[in-house]
Amino acid sequence: MARILITSAIPYINGIKHLGNLVGSQLPSDVYARFNRALGNEVMFICATDEHGTPAELAAAKAGKPVADFCAEMHAVQADIAKGFRLSFDHFGRSSSQRNHTLTQHFAGKLAEAGLIREVSEKQVYSNADGRYLPDRYIEGTCPNCGYDAARGDQCENCTKQLDPTDLLEPRSAISGSTDLEVRETKHLYLCQSQLRDKLDAWIDSKTDWPILTTSIAKKWLHDGDGLQDRGITRDLDWGIPVKKGAEEWPGMEGKVFYVWFDAPIEYIAATAEWADAHGYDDSKWERWWRTDKGAADVKYVQFMGKDNVPFHTLSFPSTIMGSNEPWKLVDFIKSFNYLNYDGGQFSTSKGRGVFMNEALEILPSDYWRWWLLSHVPESSDSEFTWDSFQQGVNKDLADVLGNFVSRITKFCRAKFGEEVPAGGDYGAAEQAVINEISTRLAAYEGHMQAIEIRKAAAELRAIWAAGNEYLQAAAPWTTFKTDPEAAATTVRFALNLIPFYAVLSEPFIPDAAATMLAAMNATGTAWPTDVATALGTLKAGDSFTVPDVMFAKITDDARDEMQARFAGRS
Ligand code: MF3
Ligand code: ZN
Repeated sequence: MARILITSAIPYINGIKHLGNLVGSQLPSDVYARFNRALGNEVMFICATDEHGTPAELAAAKAGKPVADFCAEMHAVQADIAKGFRLSFDHFGRSSSQRNHTLTQHFAGKLAEAGLIREVSEKQVYSNADGRYLPDRYIEGTCPNCGYDAARGDQCENCTKQLDPTDLLEPRSAISGSTDLEVRETKHLYLCQSQLRDKLDAWIDSKTDWPILTTSIAKKWLHDGDGLQDRGITRDLDWGIPVKKGAEEWPGMEGKVFYVWFDAPIEYIAATAEWADAHGYDDSKWERWWRTDKGAADVKYVQFMGKDNVPFHTLSFPSTIMGSNEPWKLVDFIKSFNYLNYDGGQFSTSKGRGVFMNEALEILPSDYWRWWLLSHVPESSDSEFTWDSFQQGVNKDLADVLGNFVSRITKFCRAKFGEEVPAGGDYGAAEQAVINEISTRLAAYEGHMQAIEIRKAAAELRAIWAAGNEYLQAAAPWTTFKTDPEAAATTVRFALNLIPFYAVLSEPFIPDAAATMLAAMNATGTAWPTDVATALGTLKAGDSFTVPDVMFAKITDDARDEMQARFAGRS
């Protein structure tokens, strides 16, 4: 039995995510976790909310709430939506947890001991009226390039020019509007990533099986331009993890917090500790996943994320881990994703363009979304959500192929033989042909899942469903029943056996439908098949079943058009 540690990039706390975010990390990581559990592997599947940084502060201010309250509420909202999509995290933690405070401060202390942290003096804008330093986006003013009067300190939204706060004409605080600003010297900590460059380079080179998308981004940051830069890991903000060296104060760093991207990946570890705490376990229970000196040497650690997160996971977080000189578990495989576009453009939170996770669940069951998204996951290039494609995926794959198969055979059996598996005779050539085809496809399916090629796996699964449909169509028990009821019974027995088999194979993609199928066949607890012929002999003559309710309702053209109009967004 293998031990698999799986983490999904932790979503920012500042709002509900859209389907593009979902398919770019959480959903494929869930498929992989479910697949591994089905194989009997020991899985630890971790996610959390990313709660620090300016966006969290700004969103809380906008909602008129103290930032801690805002984060607690939004965490509950995101956790609830995750449940709705059946994301099977072992723990959905919070980067603001006490565990993350302690661990982040611990890592900073170890990095300092290793001589990998240096102090840098910087000039920053201080607002006298607000009594605080203003990060880039808290400063507004007139763009020196186009004259737009609400340009932000980091960028002008109007002409897209990248700016420094000191470039702005007539700068003012975005919090209070005050123009009583001054430039002050302030000290910050830098992580000397550049000292680890060769080590990181060799480590990335050793990862020959990683997706090109992952390694090419890492290589670009290591070699392009000036190469890997040292990185500021502290900020002048109130909300965040106070800068300390382990449990000790850090002279000169009073009132500062760690940069959100320093503490966020550490939350993967912290969330596993939160999991142990939540279950009343001692530290050894989470350390066996993360400390190679405490049992984690045989763990396979796989990370999932969108491509924009790759530099932080291939370079920054490994710098933290390697630089600590402690035996923490390094990632073994990084699966990254391209973007999902929406109906001829991009998802846009500000324009309300595209479907957001909460809205999706209000309209249709999670399996519909899971199936379409996973079978179109942007692996080798960006992909696009269109309502046509979504309608087709649901109607053809789920309703016409899988749903129709299950309903047709269970209903036919009920009508002719009653709600129990009929006896019939031995399986013949037609059944053997299906067994052969499915055996080949199952091996391919498992191979794609092991390699985390989700799109190929989905295509193979669809073909496995289709094989059953084609078999049934050709064997036509509704015709043979009239002349040879024994032969019809054999067909029915074989086809009924495909239902729990399909359920187990499909569970990583569509867990609710899988549960319905297993319950209908009184087959909950069916194990992952090792041999197809054996698996398809599990249900025996006389075993009872029930006809499940319609598993997938088709999406009508009207409903499709209505949804398309509803989510088109404001311009
Ligand atoms: N919150 C980040 C995003 O949504 C991801 C953080 S991943 C972690 O892009 F590594 F920092 F945890
Ligand atoms: Zn401008």
